[in-house]
Amino acid sequence: MIVRPASEGDVLALLSLEREAFGATAWSEVSIRAELSGVPATRQVVVAEADGAVLGYAVLLVVAGTADVLRVVVATGHRGRGIGRSLMSELMSEAKRRGCPAVLLEVEADNEAAGGLYARAGFSVIDRRGGYYGPGRDALIMSCTLSAGRPPAATVSPVRDLTYPPVVLAVKAAFKALDLRLRMRGTEHIPAFGGAVLAVNHISYIDFIISGYAALPSNRWVRFMAKKELFDHRVSGPIMRSLHHIEVDRGSGLASYATALDYLRAGQVIGIFPEATISRSFELKEFKSGVVRMAAEAGVPVVPVILWGTQRLYTKDHPRDFSRGKTVLVTVGQPFAPPSGANLVAETGRLKAEMARLLDETIRSYPEMPAGAWWLPASYGGSAPTLQEAKELDSQEMRSRAAARVAQRRAAS
Ligand SMILES: CC(C)(COP(=O)(O)OP(=O)(O)OC[C@H]1O[C@@H](n2cnc3c(N)ncnc32)[C@H](O)[C@@H]1OP(=O)(O)O)[C@@H](O)C(=O)NCCC(=O)NCCS
Repeated sequence: MIVRPASEGDVLALLSLEREAFGATAWSEVSIRAELSGVPATRQVVVAEADGAVLGYAVLLVVAGTADVLRVVVATGHRGRGIGRSLMSELMSEAKRRGCPAVLLEVEADNEAAGGLYARAGFSVIDRRGGYYGPGRDALIMSCTLSAGRPPAATVSPVRDLTYPPVVLAVKAAFKALDLRLRMRGTEHIPAFGGAVLAVNHISYIDFIISGYAALPSNRWVRFMAKKELFDHRVSGPIMRSLHHIEVDRGSGLASYATALDYLRAGQVIGIFPEATISRSFELKEFKSGVVRMAAEAGVPVVPVILWGTQRLYTKDHPRDFSRGKTVLVTVGQPFAPPSGANLVAETGRLKAEMARLLDETIRSYPEMPAGAWWLPASYGGSAPTLQEAKELDSQEMRSRAAARVAQRRAAS
């Protein structure tokens, strides 16, 4: 007996096994074909075959880093011989190959054979859904945690990451030296597998380091969209390039947008600041719609990430302060997938409202809120500029930069 990937030629055999096992509730030929067409993007379908006959099959769904066993079926005359166990073991290996931290499934509470099979494969019951299959027929939700370990590079990252590991070590050492009290919540929302856009609020120059750090528990390395100047710089340029961050040339945004889409489609995590530049008020300013547009176009989720406290270390209009013992909070919210053809304005508004809610929650849970502090928004009793004042300061900055560019051009000609 061998276990191999299913193909088009197996559809009728799968249909007949389905009907034998599930009768009226069996999947139709159309739905079996639909499952097969999801391979490899979101599905894996395997069959057990002996002497040219298909004796069983199993289906795994993997979306946004979550693996789900949808089916395991063995032909009635061949049960109890270890075929179910072999199929399950293939699905578990596949989930591991794709970097999933755990596998979930749903099973009818009195399906003893399936319950036994799953328990034997390492699953345990984590919840119960009363009457899910009809009156008196409960469903059990079972889960199995896979051993930790970085997902194989081939399935997650098509690029070589030689610089990232030493940079992560350096960042960890810096956090220690600063006695940085970094508290992260919700990092499990960052998918362990597949493309995703992290939408991060922007209050300091170190935000990309901290939000990148929040993806490490999911074994992900984030590629940030960052301004061209950082890539042109003698010191930061080579680092930015070797970390595979994406260069944003404000003069030709289309190229960087296309690169980011390619990255997302290749299963990478992209980090973006939807406010584009640092918010001087430390509250959320206007959002660009690029985040939602990109996620909808690539068919990946947006994950809201809120940072608080980073502005105390290094931000606009204030001297750096790397004194020890500061608290930095990170809150990662629930991912949401904007549908393709989504109303960009409405979905961006929805993202902003959710990030505003998380920001408020995070500010209120910060251990310090001293009245009049420069790093606290005016609306929380601090002395930071209001959103309106900050907008005026941003416009002044733009005007003086434009004037400086004109003066430079005149001097050059
Ligand atoms: C569930 C099913 C796939 C098991 O397949 P199988 O090939 O018979 O299972 P295996 O022989 O590999 O047995 C593996 C383990 O499952 C458990 N198991 C299998 N049949 C069992 C039964 N009738 N009662 C209790 N436990 C059972 C045992 O723990 C067994 O391990 P062991 O042999 O070391 O004791 C099979 O019974 C089936 O196709 N059922 C109908 C479809 C279904 O309900 N699928 C699950 C929902 S999609």
